[in-house]
Amino acid sequence: MLGIETSCDETAAAVVADGARVLSSVVSSQVDLHAAYGGVVPELASRAHLQLLTPVVDRALSEAGAAGGSRSVPEAVAATVGPGLVGALLVGISEAKALALAWDVPFAGVNHLEGHLFAALLDHPGIDWPVAVLLVSGGHTMVVSMEGPGRYRLLGQTLDDAAGEAFDKVARFLGLGYPGGPAIERAARSGDPSAFAFPRALLDEGLDLSFSGLKTAVVNTVRRHPDATNEDVAASFQQAVVDVLVAKAMRAATGTGARGVCLAGGVAANGPLRQALREACAAAGIPAYLPSRAMCTDNAAMIAAAGWWQLAHVGPTPLDAGADPDRGLPLLG
Ligand code: KG4
Ligand code: ZN
Repeated sequence: MLGIETSCDETAAAVVADGARVLSSVVSSQVDLHAAYGGVVPELASRAHLQLLTPVVDRALSEAGAAGGSRSVPEAVAATVGPGLVGALLVGISEAKALALAWDVPFAGVNHLEGHLFAALLDHPGIDWPVAVLLVSGGHTMVVSMEGPGRYRLLGQTLDDAAGEAFDKVARFLGLGYPGGPAIERAARSGDPSAFAFPRALLDEGLDLSFSGLKTAVVNTVRRHPDATNEDVAASFQQAVVDVLVAKAMRAATGTGARGVCLAGGVAANGPLRQALREACAAAGIPAYLPSRAMCTDNAAMIAAAGWWQLAHVGPTPLDAGADPDRGLPLLG
């Protein structure tokens, strides 16, 4: 399966065998292009995808051949159809449909959020269901009970900002650059996580989350303490986010009798979050399924994996299907 991902600012293609074995995964980041603007500029993203995608697909195919892929053309092509930036999505969808038509193989239009949920399966094929999944990306923050591929129940979600969005906004405010998550993690390494007691919204209540108050608290604190170091602010902010995310994941696991906890989405690449979740799961006696860091942020291997499952269980997507920028996660019941 050839997978293509162009929903935001990563141009990515990957070849995955049998829905699980990654033969190649190429990600061309547009970070440098958007950094000057402090965030993704949709029109620039679409234009860059247009230039980058064919060479990225070429490389994914040739690396897969070198990795022992036995076929001259893939058996199927998957691409992200949403959610995401409509222009960016259209570039990947058009390329995928053109290749499917030229090669006479089926096309699978994949939900980006579902792709993130499949990332953990690539690294942990033997997951014992159900698992509680914390899906934390730049645009979404959800707590999901995953009963198996294609079987999702929404347990909670953010009432305002996504976790990644909070990282990006705080990093921007501190002048740490874009994307914010890795910048905050880097700065936090030499900071004191207990320097400032930032709020942990809804920590003891339910499974919904909220990050906008935390962002405001960071701004107010920095204004009140002009001598505060970026390192201490970043470390204290990151600790507040990690505390809340881990508490929600563990509450979801306990409440649903989950056999494990899974992380997904760009924020799942965060080292302190991974460490804290590992420790909480060890204390609870259940496994923590952490995708490798490369599979947490946007990539096409997760899209190919989800597409492979979708083709087998739902069937191919018609070639007249378009982009679906606001698509939500398909939920049970
Ligand atoms: O899943 P993703 O690559 O794209 C979306 O689907 O949104 O997630 C991107 C988000 C960004 O907000 C970025 O700042 C955040 O993930 N992120 C991180 C880290 N790496 C990426 N947040 C915290 N720590 C990181 N190491
Ligand atoms: Zn994503």
